[in-house]
Amino acid sequence: MDYFRGEAATLLERSLAQAFPGLALPPVGATDLAVPPDPAMGDLAFPCFPLAKLVRRSPQAIAQALQEQIAAHRPAWLMGVEALRGYLNLRLRPETVAQQVLQSVAAAGPHYGASALGQGRTVVVEYSSPNIAKPFSIGHIRSTVIGHSLARIHQFLGYKVVRINHLGDWGTQFGKLLVAYKAWGHDRDGKPLEPTIERLLELYIRFHEEAESKPDLEDQARHWFRRLEQGDPEAVSLWQEFRAVSLQEFRRVYDQLGVGFDAYVGESFYSDQLEDVIRQAQAAGITQLSQGALIVPLDDVGLPPCLLQKSDGATLYATRDLAAAIYRFRTYHFDRMFYVVGAPQALHFQQIFAVLRKMGYDWVDRCRHVPFGVIRFGDQVVSTRRGNLVFLEDVLNRAVSLTSQIIAEKNPDLPNKEEVARQVGIGAVIFADLRHGRLNDVDFSWEDVLNFDGATGPYVQYTQARAASILRKSGLGRQDEGLTGAAGTAGTAGAAGIQPGGEEGGNGAALSTPAPVSVPQVRDADFSLLTGQEEFALLKTLGDFPAVIRQAAEQAEPSLVARYLLDLCHLFNSYYHAERVLGQPRD
Ligand code: ARG
Repeated sequence: MDYFRGEAATLLERSLAQAFPGLALPPVGATDLAVPPDPAMGDLAFPCFPLAKLVRRSPQAIAQALQEQIAAHRPAWLMGVEALRGYLNLRLRPETVAQQVLQSVAAAGPHYGASALGQGRTVVVEYSSPNIAKPFSIGHIRSTVIGHSLARIHQFLGYKVVRINHLGDWGTQFGKLLVAYKAWGHDRDGKPLEPTIERLLELYIRFHEEAESKPDLEDQARHWFRRLEQGDPEAVSLWQEFRAVSLQEFRRVYDQLGVGFDAYVGESFYSDQLEDVIRQAQAAGITQLSQGALIVPLDDVGLPPCLLQKSDGATLYATRDLAAAIYRFRTYHFDRMFYVVGAPQALHFQQIFAVLRKMGYDWVDRCRHVPFGVIRFGDQVVSTRRGNLVFLEDVLNRAVSLTSQIIAEKNPDLPNKEEVARQVGIGAVIFADLRHGRLNDVDFSWEDVLNFDGATGPYVQYTQARAASILRKSGLGRQDEGLTGAAGTAGTAGAAGIQPGGEEGGNGAALSTPAPVSVPQVRDADFSLLTGQEEFALLKTLGDFPAVIRQAAEQAEPSLVARYLLDLCHLFNSYYHAERVLGQPRD
């Protein structure tokens, strides 16, 4: 309800000046207005507490003075004002709200809530970034869907978005894998086995098991990583093979999720920029040698030192992140950069940002680590070290097959069953993740994910299909909508990346928003008929959408959009139960 907040703020500022002439009072902004806990108290509330000192009256006395002032010159959009316990509660005229909200929705169509806020600005969103030669586990889903959602939210707000997958395709772990593959990656006749992901995972696990009793393996691994870094043909060609197999698997999962990237630029990409980064750090005079290793001490900012180069010359994860940040700023001149990476890496990013600042890159203030909690699957925190991995692909397939079962029971005659099962099943997994505040841990349970009556993706899609069906029956909507519909909330769900779909095109590709639905009579509608409580609540919430999208971007918090959708669907369903939508006589 941006519009009415704005109107109310202007009115309050003017009324304050009239009620208390001669006092220099701070301006009133839209965000100074709160929403009363109980809608019976009003639709907006202005707290007078912060003014008490300046005005030298009690908050309630200020609220009363405002009430008198406004009651004497009440604008048409305002039904009433009431001073209550230090707040001035404002009641909006439902008819005016209906008109304002519905006309803005109709005018903007699927772009309702979009804006030009980000015009001319670039946002880099780095997300997913799995490690190659390991399966895509359920542990990666959070970064993938949160990052993708943030990318879409920013696109919706007019930013140019660059979506980067910072693949973990470099580092000492590849030394381990090379050692393991050379030692155990062949059959009895010595013929090398095809390096499938499962096999690579087994080899990686075996390396760690055997290394416990044979510490020499670790030395060999370091040696092999060095060979890789130095471009040794055997090491490079094996590594390339591992990488290609992994990418193939990742892309399959991304396709299922409808997630895309503008660039897959892994850690290996920076290997020839590391020397330069190290030289820059040395030139800035911020490095020190410590037992043969090159470090940047960070005790002045209360952090442990950042290790740039080991004593054997090998570079590190952190060195590659420094190179990546510098490269990206040179390439994209971003206004903001988000790293969507789990909370356990918070210290790593603090160190990276601190080193960049010491190197004189003040654009580091535009970088932000966007952490998130862990996902637990049947009580196990998903970890790659131990073998108890839950593969994301299996989870997605299971979601689709469970949904197929539900459809077979509830709606066996549904046409296009498979496609619906895919959209609903995969959407459910994505939504189950996005709905949690990103810092909270997620306990994955099929009940929570697929319950059609709960706070789930299927519930949102079901509500949307209901709305689309009304439009279809009214003859106003498009006739060719997909089964989960294309109108209504699909626009809002789409903005948050909740609706799975095909891989999107490159940067600047249109959001997969639906074609506009023509609602010809909005202009001529008799808004005074829309005065029911359920309608009013629904309309106010619809009016909040643009602000919710903006807040989601500001806080890098897609759950705000997901939870907003749940509220909206809930209100829509109450409205639908309370009112007859089609065929209501004009009385
Ligand atoms: N590959 C890493 C992992 O799976 C995540 C990479 C995060 N991004 C970064 N720029 N360090 O843990």
